Amino acid sequence: AAATLHEAEAATISQGVVDSDHAGFTGSGFVNYDNLVGSYVDFTLTPAQSGQVRLVLRYANGTTADRPMRITVNGAQLAPGLSFPGTGSWTTWRTVTVQATLHTGANTVRATATTAGGGPNLDSLTVDDGAQGGTDWS
Ligand code: GCU
Repeated sequence: AAATLHEAEAATISQGVVDSDHAGFTGSGFVNYDNLVGSYVDFTLTPAQSGQVRLVLRYANGTTADRPMRITVNGAQLAPGLSFPGTGSWTTWRTVTVQATLHTGANTVRATATTAGGGPNLDSLTVDDGAQGGTDWS
């Protein structure tokens, strides 16, 4: 498939909890980051092929303050403070996209809160390889 969705609630969470009290999420819930610098979620991606992909992060931020996050892939920084601006309410979900290069085997994508507010509520990470058909990702 060209795109595979990874639920945040199934990822590895450091300093956050899985909640389901704001509608509109996919799967069984979303990650509510603790409101502090350094809380993070790790996704493990194992593509069949190496190459460039789009990482699409789905989130909600019911505040009016940005909830920026540092995005790393296998420890290398893609974005120092990717913006996750307010979405208007905790039940309004939007996406933010970054490009990344993945290798075969396991890759770790980490999204770490960089301000005292913590991260936004994070629903999922979709990996889009741009291909029609092809092999499923996991
Ligand atoms: C509220 C909201 C949570 C959110 C939190 C925050 O408590 O219900 O879902 O995570 O604000 O500010 O991070």
